[in-house]
Amino acid sequence: MVGNTNSDSFAGKRVALCVSGGIAAYKAIDVLRGLQKAGCVVRVAMTRRACEFVQPLTFRALSDHHVLVDDYAADNPDPIAHITFSQSVDLIIVAPATANIIAKFANGIADDFITSTYLAAFAPVIVAPAMNTAMWEHPATLRNIARLRADGIHIIEPEHGRMACHTIGAGRLAEPDVIVQAALDVLSSQHSPSQVSSSPNPSSTMNINGFDFTGERVLITTGATREAIDPVRFISNHSSGRMGFALAQAAHARGAHVTVIAGITSVAPPAGIRLVRVASADEMHHAVMKEIERSTVFIAAAAVADYRPRERHAHKIKKNGDRSLTLHLEPTIDILASVAAHPSRPTNDLIVAGFAAETSDLIRHARTKLEKKNLDLIIANDVTREGAGFNHDTNIVTLLARDRIDAPRELPLMSKLETAHRILDEIKRLHPSHTHIEHDLGIESRL
Ligand code: CTP
Repeated sequence: MVGNTNSDSFAGKRVALCVSGGIAAYKAIDVLRGLQKAGCVVRVAMTRRACEFVQPLTFRALSDHHVLVDDYAADNPDPIAHITFSQSVDLIIVAPATANIIAKFANGIADDFITSTYLAAFAPVIVAPAMNTAMWEHPATLRNIARLRADGIHIIEPEHGRMACHTIGAGRLAEPDVIVQAALDVLSSQHSPSQVSSSPNPSSTMNINGFDFTGERVLITTGATREAIDPVRFISNHSSGRMGFALAQAAHARGAHVTVIAGITSVAPPAGIRLVRVASADEMHHAVMKEIERSTVFIAAAAVADYRPRERHAHKIKKNGDRSLTLHLEPTIDILASVAAHPSRPTNDLIVAGFAAETSDLIRHARTKLEKKNLDLIIANDVTREGAGFNHDTNIVTLLARDRIDAPRELPLMSKLETAHRILDEIKRLHPSHTHIEHDLGIESRL
C-alpha cells in the first residue's frame, strides 16, 4: 500500500527505472505501474541479462517509450543516450539490482548503458537489491552496499523470505509498493523554489540544516510490538510507525546513517535507511542492544507493550463454555530505560530520547519519565488532542530537554516530518559537537 500517491504532486516527474538481470525483474512492472499511477513519467533501461527475464517489449508497451538496453544499438534514437537520459531525469531507480551491478556502481565501472547512466547522473539514485542470501551476505556485497550508502545512494533493504532458489533468507526484492513509496519520498524531498517561500516553516521541511547529522549513527525504534498469547492471538496496539519513520527520513536527509528497529507498522518505511523487523518487545530489545554500542543517537518512538502474557500457549486456546478466561501478564523490559543505563553511554556520548504518550497531566508525567529513565530529551504528546498521536500524519508535541526541564517547548500542530526535524534540531542543540564521527565502512553488519 502506497501512502502518498496524489498524482498531482508527482505529475511530470521523470523517473528512470533501470532493471538488471534477476528473477525479480518481473516485479519492476509493478514498480513502473505504481510510479505511473502517481503521475510520474517513467523511462525504462535494462541490462542484457534482464532482457532474458522480461522482454523489453513489455516495458516498451507499458511505458510508451523505447526501452534502452544498448547505447550503440541501431534502433536507439539517441547516440549518446546515457548522457541525455541520465541528465534529464529527477530520479533513478535500480530494481532489481543484482550483486554484479551493485559491485560495478561501487567501483565506478561503466561498461553498459545502465552503469554509464549511473556515472553520468545528477539525479538521486535508489537501489533495491535482490539476490540469493549468500550473495547478499557476502562481505564483498556488504562492502559495496556500504560504499554506495557513503556515496549517498538510497538503499532499499531486501526482504527476508522464501527465495526463487528454494532457500529462506534475506535477499528478496522489496515489495513494489515499498519501492514506489520510497521513490515518492525522495521526489517529495526535492523541493522547488516556490515551495521554499510558501512553507510556513521552511527549516523543518527543507533541508536547510544541510548535512548536520553526517557521521551520526541514529538508531530508532518504531511501530507496535506484538505479544503472543497463542499461535493465532496476540496483544498489540494502534501504532502505525509514522513518527519513527518520519524521524528516520529526516535524519537520513540530514546525512545520518539510520537504522530503524520496526515492530508492526502500517505505513511504508522511507528510502535510504537500514530496516530491522521485529515482532515482540523482547525481540526489539535484543535488536536494539545489538546496535546500541555503535550508535550516537537513540530515539525510542515505538509503542512497546508494557506487559506480555506470562506463558505463550503452544496450541490455540479453546473456548471453555461460558467460563471466563484469565490471562496472566508480566512486565516487558523497558528498552528506553535499559539503553539509557547502558554502560557504554558515557563513553559513546550517546544521546537518548524517548516519547511520552499521555492522556492527562502531560508535562508532569513527561518530566517524571525523563528523570526516572535518565533521558536527554523527552517528546511529550497528549494523544487525546485532535491531530496528535496514532494514525495521523500530524502531531502536536512538547519538547522537554534535560537542561531545560523547567522550560517545556510546545510546538504547534505540524506534519510528523516537520516534527521530526524539530526533534533533530533539539538533539543537535543538546550535543552540537556530535558531528563528523567517521566510521569505518568495514563495520557494516550483516542483517
Ligand atoms: N518504551 C520502551 N520500552 C518499553 C516501554 C516503553 O522503550 N517496554 C519507550 C517508548 O518507546 C517511549 C517511552 O518508553 O519512548 C515511553 O513510553 P510510554 O508508553 O509513554 O510510557 P511508559 O514508560 O510505558 O509508562 P506508562 O505506560 O505508564 O505511561
